[in-house]
Amino acid sequence: MTFDRSVSRRDFVRAAGSAAVATLAAPGGLFASPAQAKRRYAMIGTGDRGTSMWGADVVRRYGDVLEFVGVCDINPKRAALAPSLIGVSCPTFTDLDEMCDRVKPDLLVVTTVDAYHAPIIVKALERGIDVLTEKPMVIDEQQCQAVLDAEKRTGRKIVVTFNYRFAPKHQLIKEILLSGEIGRVHSVDFHWYLDVYHGADYFRRWHRLKAKGGTLWVHKASHHFDLINWWLGADPVEVRAFGSLHVYGRNGTQRSTTCRACPHKKACRFYYDITTSERRMKLYVGCEDADGYHRDGCVFREDVDIYDSMNGLVTYSNGVTMTYSTNAFLPIEGYRLAFNGEKGRLEVRDYERQSWKPEVETEIAVMRSFGERRIVPVPAVQGGHGGGDDRMRDQIFRKVDVPDYMRLPDSRAGALACLTGIAARKSVEDKRPVKIAELVRL
Ligand SMILES: NC(=O)c1ccc[n+]([C@@H]2O[C@H](COP(=O)([O-])OP(=O)(O)OC[C@H]3O[C@@H](n4cnc5c(N)ncnc54)[C@H](O)[C@@H]3O)[C@@H](O)[C@H]2O)c1
Repeated sequence: MTFDRSVSRRDFVRAAGSAAVATLAAPGGLFASPAQAKRRYAMIGTGDRGTSMWGADVVRRYGDVLEFVGVCDINPKRAALAPSLIGVSCPTFTDLDEMCDRVKPDLLVVTTVDAYHAPIIVKALERGIDVLTEKPMVIDEQQCQAVLDAEKRTGRKIVVTFNYRFAPKHQLIKEILLSGEIGRVHSVDFHWYLDVYHGADYFRRWHRLKAKGGTLWVHKASHHFDLINWWLGADPVEVRAFGSLHVYGRNGTQRSTTCRACPHKKACRFYYDITTSERRMKLYVGCEDADGYHRDGCVFREDVDIYDSMNGLVTYSNGVTMTYSTNAFLPIEGYRLAFNGEKGRLEVRDYERQSWKPEVETEIAVMRSFGERRIVPVPAVQGGHGGGDDRMRDQIFRKVDVPDYMRLPDSRAGALACLTGIAARKSVEDKRPVKIAELVRL
């Protein structure tokens, strides 16, 4: 069943109170095409995310409002492969300047390895091009300042694709909070679970290196930090954090370069057979000789310099304190979340993957102090990231009516989410609380 916007809005009004949906923003997606003109859309970073979510799916759903004018990747083989995977016949490039000079895009989607988002964003803005960037927008505070300054200087726009916000269940949580049912929120418990499939996969890829993804504090947790900033309507102020590497990297007792080349295949519980995926064989194995990158790298390589176990305490501008954790080696995938309010508690348990079948995928309950527990019905949806991907893209490329609080995340949101993770990483490394204000001038 797909998510029906009109039905869901009625449900939300019932669940959250009419005040929550009273203000509808003026129609108009940020990157919606002006009447009769197709936006000239180009992509940099033609890996899995680029060619699917921002490639083939975009061409299929929004081909009437944009023209795919070029793709660029530092790996020439992957760049050359991209048009056929996306279903277009545009020119391919290995250099951003050359692509911009030749095809003159007016919108660039940035889907490269995280560490390169910032210099690409700055270059695009300076060329007068609007930017749609995958999260995380940046991986350190210097990159963050450079991006914010460039946006201000050039007057162009950045949208950060925090798709989790757009999942109907997450909108529902926002609206329950806005309704005031649990009163003023004082603290948050947020625990995100990454399992031995998804969690381990970060340690096979470039994400295992701090210099590429900024650690999972930035690469992964920035999604969660954005949700919290948005749900609370507040900015992070200070972070204290701990991080350890308990399972992957040097903790392994045997290792190889890749799973394909591994003599311990049969014994290794993390063995992954990339040859079973035709798409990954084409996108990665077939392009390995151009850049030496292995998509099925050993999770026990000794160069892993990120954490698989992270705990933090974050304080916010409205006085709220959040206890946060994530672990990347669990038997379950999903999260547990609670908002502790003056008049009650909002509790959420999301079951994404586990060895048993839960009764529902997401449980949302509101408990009133001295009162009853109310189970909140969660709309069933299809599509990537809890249905968030499609709803976010509709808003980017089409004119849709949305309440104010559902507007697309901008560079400030992108910065604050990353900065929480950057501060957490710094806090682990320096063994001290880190204030967001010491990192950038917002
Ligand atoms: N929002 C989400 O839920 C979500 C999900 C998956 C991935 N992502 C993000 O999407 C981005 C891409 O992820 P992916 O899984 O497709 O990774 P990937 O490794 O499959 O693809 C990255 C591509 O970028 C290219 N590249 C690296 N540096 C470059 C540079 N300087 N210039 C041009 N190309 C460069 C690589 O050759 C590769 O083709 C990442 O930033 C990731 O965080 C977001």
